[in-house]
Amino acid sequence: MENIAVIGSGTMGNGIAHVFAQNGFKVSLIDISEAALEKGMATIAKNLDRQVKKEKIDEAKKTETLNNITTFTSVKEGAKGADLVVEAATENTDLKLKIFKELDEVCDEKTILASNTSSISITKIASVTNRPEKVIGMHFMNPVPVMKLVEIIRGYSTSDEVTERIMEMSKKLGKIPEEVNDYPGFIANRILMPMINEAIFSLFEGVAGVKEIDSVMKLGMAHPMGPLQLADFIGLDVCLSILNVLHDGLGDPKYRPCPLLINMVQAGKLGAKSGEGFYDYGHGTKDLVVASTFKK
Ligand SMILES: NC(=O)c1ccc[n+]([C@@H]2O[C@H](COP(=O)([O-])OP(=O)(O)OC[C@H]3O[C@@H](n4cnc5c(N)ncnc54)[C@H](O)[C@@H]3O)[C@@H](O)[C@H]2O)c1
Repeated sequence: MENIAVIGSGTMGNGIAHVFAQNGFKVSLIDISEAALEKGMATIAKNLDRQVKKEKIDEAKKTETLNNITTFTSVKEGAKGADLVVEAATENTDLKLKIFKELDEVCDEKTILASNTSSISITKIASVTNRPEKVIGMHFMNPVPVMKLVEIIRGYSTSDEVTERIMEMSKKLGKIPEEVNDYPGFIANRILMPMINEAIFSLFEGVAGVKEIDSVMKLGMAHPMGPLQLADFIGLDVCLSILNVLHDGLGDPKYRPCPLLINMVQAGKLGAKSGEGFYDYGHGTKDLVVASTFKK
């Protein structure tokens, strides 16, 4: 596999394109507008500059990486000659089904189609194509150039051969792939989201405050970031949506989202991206400041 198409140049898509291009693959980066592509390419250039500064790569490698990426606003044009397509468009089921239908029509029958979805069923995505054995999940973690894990998700019909090739490909990117089956939340979110939800329930029930909950998990469990800070970083709307996928898909009340999380999302307190979640991000310092709502 030499030619890779990446769909979506947002947070994940530009990171995925960066990592493939840096490892010598030719990448077609596809998004719906020139503005989105320019933003994605600017982020890649900025992240490469940071790697140069840290002496992880040299200027020549930076130039080579950028030269390996070509941008497109049409899926048909960008995905035409791809051996592998990695879809990292907005997390929306109808949108992904539409993209995979189109990919199935425009790509060669040998092309493997992967999705970076955090929560949508790979089996469902595969069902709109005529090649369900060649559809697979490649769940990269944010930030992609830094995080080692790729969760490889086998849909109901994904073949052994395709799984093996994608495991090998992930290793070529310097990543560590782990194979899991396609059930709601896969492994990463099935375990992470209930932990975050339990932290929010603990706050909601007054067991401890924001700082105390995060500190117990950081200092006691050696987590680099507490669960409430992590929820703010991921986005509280994203956490709620994944918890709903777990709750609906597995039908077990243990996955019910905490009412406090639902209220915060309804109030527009989505975490770092909205300026406030469990912490306040609008005060201009790098220190973590607990949001005024949660101050004792
Ligand atoms: N952000 C994370 O931490 C994270 C982690 C793992 C997986 N994911 C998954 O990665 C995917 C992308 O998430 P993100 O955070 O990068 O989102 P994002 O909003 O940053 O980027 C999505 C991009 O997709 C583009 N897009 C929308 N419709 C398109 C179309 N029809 N064709 C081409 N491009 C289109 C948008 O213009 C945007 O640039 C989602 O499936 C998400 O669940 C996200």
